[in-house]
Amino acid sequence: MYEGLLARRIIALFNLTITEAEIMSLIEQPKFQSQGDLAFPCFRLAKLLKQSPNQIALKLSKEIQEASFESVEASGPYLNVFLNKKLVSNSVLTNILLNRSAYGAHQFGNNKTFVIDFSSPNIAKPFSMGHLRSTVIGNSLAKIAEKCGYKVVKINYLGDWGTQFGKLICAYKRWGDEQQVREAPIKNLLNLYVKFHKEAEADSQLDDQGREWFKKLEDNDSEATVLWQWFRKESLHAFNHVYNLLNVSFDSFNGEAFYNDKMAETIRWLKAKGLVVESAGAEVVRLDESALPPCLLKKKDGATLYATRDITAARDRYHNYQFSKAVYVVGHEQSLHFNQVFTVLAKAGVNWAQKMEHVPFGFILKDGKKMSTRKGKVVLLEDVINDAIKLAEHNINVKNPSLPNKQQVAHQVGIGAMIFHDLKHYRLHNVEFSLDEMLRFEGTTGPYVQYTHARAQSIITKAELLSEDGFMQGLCDTWSWPVIKHLTAFPDKVESAFHENDPSQIARYLISLSQAFNKYYANVKVLTADDQLGARIALVNAVTIVLQEGLRLLGIAAPDKM
Ligand code: ARG
Repeated sequence: MYEGLLARRIIALFNLTITEAEIMSLIEQPKFQSQGDLAFPCFRLAKLLKQSPNQIALKLSKEIQEASFESVEASGPYLNVFLNKKLVSNSVLTNILLNRSAYGAHQFGNNKTFVIDFSSPNIAKPFSMGHLRSTVIGNSLAKIAEKCGYKVVKINYLGDWGTQFGKLICAYKRWGDEQQVREAPIKNLLNLYVKFHKEAEADSQLDDQGREWFKKLEDNDSEATVLWQWFRKESLHAFNHVYNLLNVSFDSFNGEAFYNDKMAETIRWLKAKGLVVESAGAEVVRLDESALPPCLLKKKDGATLYATRDITAARDRYHNYQFSKAVYVVGHEQSLHFNQVFTVLAKAGVNWAQKMEHVPFGFILKDGKKMSTRKGKVVLLEDVINDAIKLAEHNINVKNPSLPNKQQVAHQVGIGAMIFHDLKHYRLHNVEFSLDEMLRFEGTTGPYVQYTHARAQSIITKAELLSEDGFMQGLCDTWSWPVIKHLTAFPDKVESAFHENDPSQIARYLISLSQAFNKYYANVKVLTADDQLGARIALVNAVTIVLQEGLRLLGIAAPDKM
């Protein structure tokens, strides 16, 4: 918030044509309080204005005056800004206590539509740890977009079509047992899937049979269709169980199968634009001018492809929602695919092609290795969730055995720990999976932030009878100031997390706010009766509000006690 103010003053003073955002990105937060609260290095401007950086710093220090800046000093090529602590703390605390959970919200979304395609697991395979990433990143981005004023449409593009169904039907016909599948569909379907791949290594005919079954399915064969519907229904049921545990919801489950009868029209449309050429019996769109391999629309045998479906789905979504932004939260191994899809649409001349964006992410690793469904080494998400909840319960039993509502809190902590562990990593980095690590109450974990929130909450409860009156006099002591500064940064974090599709900025922000608050708590007796009492309670209250809201944006609950 104060970065923006400083940037605007700098721009006005030199009549600059560079953007506020660009200046803001140059502003630093010095490590040492002696260097001010904000520092602006003048090198970039020096180049631009052909003056020495020291001269520029000096000029800025003389000309910039603001009520919320206590002093503005030149230190060599740097401009150091010291904020007016009392004023800033009054203003931020008032703002938070007034707006509560709406603090940090933005209006720039203007109620325009933000479509987000996330989670999108493949039915007939279990919901693996890999799909957890898309689910939690997407869920958080949806909440962040909402907070920025967008109308959000959450789409689960189910992988409910494809050769894997032929394989599954084939496996079921050979080895399946109806009774068993009814009793434990996911485990049994997974076993069949794994068995199919194992057996197919030795028996090459199996793959052919799998393909034949898929062909039957595409030709509306009734036996194949009935089995497909059954597998789909059972899988969806199991996925919904996981979504309920994670507290994630969707507005649409239109997946790949939904577009079966809609792709012919897409191909006609692209043909009418003269974009489709034949290549060895297949139909493709050439993308040479974009230095991309051709986008395959239809195979020689008439089968349509993943890209054809995605192009069809994108048109359908634009038709339904007129989105101003559409993002796809899908692993980085699909970058080429999305690049091709977007490029084909751009070539077809739709003006909304540039409103689409692939938001890629890295793998979840176990002991440094990627997890794979086929080999059966897959870790079932539901088992992991249950382990996490059990371990959370164990930790709570050690720390706070008399806690009421233990079961519910263990659920919130276990799930929260998993989500936080994922989201604290920049999404393109791989994440090493470790239950013990993510459930620690200390360190950079979800439980640590939740615990900090509960601790702050307990102070508020104790202070219930005291009032917040009197906080207008402002806090300016050594321990509260870092907390106040963190609080002022929240709205900017939300905005930049949105623009960069990056929930990790909020996760790391919550860690450092928690650390600042815990230092405060260790050094200040909050509930001492003196004339700053109201101000301190207001500060603690503001911290609980921001921690709770930040966790909510990540899709994590903030229990009052733990
Ligand atoms: N089901 C796909 C997979 O698991 C992801 C689908 C992503 N969304 C899309 N519109 N292609 O690989």
